Amino acid sequence: MLKLAIILPTLNERDNLAPLVRRLADALDGPLGADGWEAIFVDDNSQDGTAEEARTLSCTDSRVRVIQRIGRRGLASAAIEGMMATAAPLLAVMDADHQHDPALLPQMVAALESGEADVCVASRFAPGASMAEWNQPTREKQSELANRIARRLTGVTLTDPMSGYFMLRAATLRVIAPKLSGIGFKILLDILATSDTRLTVREFPLAFAARASGESKLDQAIAFEFLVGLYDKTLGRFIPTRFALFGTIGAMGVVVHLAVLATLFRWMGTSFIVGQISAVIAAMTFNFILNNELTYADKRLKHFGELLVGWGKFCLTCLIGAFANVGVAEALVDRGVHWVVAAMAGIIIGSVWNYALSSRFVWGR
Ligand code: GDD
Ligand code: MN
Repeated sequence: MLKLAIILPTLNERDNLAPLVRRLADALDGPLGADGWEAIFVDDNSQDGTAEEARTLSCTDSRVRVIQRIGRRGLASAAIEGMMATAAPLLAVMDADHQHDPALLPQMVAALESGEADVCVASRFAPGASMAEWNQPTREKQSELANRIARRLTGVTLTDPMSGYFMLRAATLRVIAPKLSGIGFKILLDILATSDTRLTVREFPLAFAARASGESKLDQAIAFEFLVGLYDKTLGRFIPTRFALFGTIGAMGVVVHLAVLATLFRWMGTSFIVGQISAVIAAMTFNFILNNELTYADKRLKHFGELLVGWGKFCLTCLIGAFANVGVAEALVDRGVHWVVAAMAGIIIGSVWNYALSSRFVWGR
């Protein structure tokens, strides 16, 4: 009897898959039986052949399933999609890069089946947990702040609300799934904050392994993610969270623009046009980096090549946006609209264009 589905979002994890399936089998075949579980890889069309590798594994092990998404990106939405694609009554979400230890899965199953908990969370900060490469003083400050904000949002005290490793009943998820935003890495927090009934959480101390390569910037962004979560649950209804972030960063870009222009043109004595061109490039680059780190943290471009292409596409998008901006303002002024109103209209049209296009063109896949 199928009891548990393990959802594994993947982005360029090809070489991690086969060892991971072996580790899952080692942990689960005993307690659940060989046909008591399935592993669902939700791959966002990785360029390294992750989906092909998953299909290859699936040919010899029917417990391995694959969802390959094309033209879409994002950890949270991949997790939701995977969770909605199984008949198993219990759902776990886990990273596919071996940072999460499958040995916790049977304990989580037991806690859910006994009714002791509604949600099981593997915590990097619960007593007994450990983490490869972690710095003590910052850690305490962060988890304290994280705790306070998470409690406000969810009414639940968690030591690690950002954890990407958790388990819950499918029945619990299905009730709230339509209300989940699917933005960012904060899927667990989103689930807890969205539920109308107070969910009982039990934490399991996790020995968080080091990633094979690269690093998680999320630990530094933890407080920020909470603020985003807070916004998403309140004002996010009126102005979408991503657009608000994009707009805020855009406004900061204006400050960067003026600062660079002032430095070059006023103080260093360059010509105005050289100052302007430099300022535009600086502001676009600033906006690209911040949007990549914050607005699209869940779809972050990481590798140098990706970043370069993304930056180029972003600049192209903004240039067209600038033409639309100027064109609209011009047309309105010609029709006798006050210049401030015309300029504002141009800015709004340009921003919406930049946002709509870059969300697909730059961070869409
Ligand atoms: N399908 C899909 N789409 N999978 C993704 C995407 C995406 O856009 N981005 C990342 N993944 C997959 C990775 O392949 C990996 O299996 C897992 O999601 C986690 O991604 P990492 O890039 O390894 O994230 P991390 O280690 O920085 O972050 C982990 O810790 C955070 C807390 O600090 C994750 O567990 C997060 O969920 C967690 O919030
Ligand atoms: Mn990881």
